[in-house]
Amino acid sequence: MNGVVGKIVGVGRALGERVVTNDGFQNALNTDNAWIVERTGIKERHFVADGENCATLAADASNKALEHAGLKSEAIDLILCATSTAPESMPSVACLVGDMIGAAGIGAMDLAAACAGYSYAASVADSMLRSGAARRVLLIGADVMTSIVDQKDRSTAVLFGDGAGAVVLERGSGESGFVDHILGADGGMAPLLRAGHPGSDEKLYQNGREVFKWAVRIIPQMVEKLLARNDVSPEQVQYIIPHQANTRIIQAAVRKMDIPEEKIVVNLDRFGNTSAASIPISYPDIYGHFEPGKYVITAGFGAGLTWAANLYRI
Ligand SMILES: CC(C)(COP(=O)(O)OP(=O)(O)OC[C@H]1O[C@@H](n2cnc3c(N)ncnc32)[C@H](O)[C@@H]1OP(=O)(O)O)[C@@H](O)C(=O)NCCC(=O)NCCS
Repeated sequence: MNGVVGKIVGVGRALGERVVTNDGFQNALNTDNAWIVERTGIKERHFVADGENCATLAADASNKALEHAGLKSEAIDLILCATSTAPESMPSVACLVGDMIGAAGIGAMDLAAACAGYSYAASVADSMLRSGAARRVLLIGADVMTSIVDQKDRSTAVLFGDGAGAVVLERGSGESGFVDHILGADGGMAPLLRAGHPGSDEKLYQNGREVFKWAVRIIPQMVEKLLARNDVSPEQVQYIIPHQANTRIIQAAVRKMDIPEEKIVVNLDRFGNTSAASIPISYPDIYGHFEPGKYVITAGFGAGLTWAANLYRI
């Protein structure tokens, strides 16, 4: 394959320091481990501890990705962070990360597309590499969902976690890199899933059933479109990383696709739904197993409603 550009050369993740198991909600929320595991697949999630926020997690994940790539922060040209939970309206998380990792002076910006944020940002990062505007991009997905979720609402509190995933993307030799992207949004469906700014009283609201049904449709639609228009067969796909919202969503989506279940990456049991972080926090578990020449599909969906997917050739 010629012409592929943005190659992943380093991956890293950071999770909130406090591990909260399902039992941790039992007394306060009139729920139990069995309900949560059966309806969502989640067993535990990480919440930020005092002193941690979206930017500290993003910087921590970034340092790990740089170390994994064997690069110093000076090697980066651009920092792009997908997030909807920046601790303040300004500055952006990306700017704070630049300072924290010792890369002040280079371009830094956030991109908001909720749980589809990483896939959106990957397409932007890839475009910057293709255009020649950057040679290496630090691409981050980071969200602190505890800052927008009502911890007294059992129908949402149990679902979300705090985390960040980062990748170093560089202009490769043309063999390995992003091949294609899909981006979509429909603001008419905004009432199905929305939240106020972090720290405000307007906490996350969702119509769980409608979002569930929509997600089960949109994942296979994106995967099939990427495969068909790039002439890639399901056998050539090594991994699909869907946004980690609910294991039952992923299972129902997989049943609609011609892809064996073992190729689908699932880590909801450990991390819950970490929004824009959920796809990039998956990489450290699989990157070492990547088989050159095969493909990885990343597929995000979330508030907006937004959806986005990426086809990556290893
Ligand atoms: C939220 C979700 C897990 C709820 O599961 P569900 O099977 O659809 O459950 P329902 O919403 O039909 O609720 C069933 C009952 O469980 C109750 N319930 C909700 N959360 C509960 C909890 N943590 N513990 C116990 N009971 C709970 C509800 O109150 C409801 O009770 P009622 O019938 O007495 O009103 C599911 O709809 C979902 O995951 N939707 C997608 C949400 C999502 O992924 N959003 C992010 C997208 S990026």
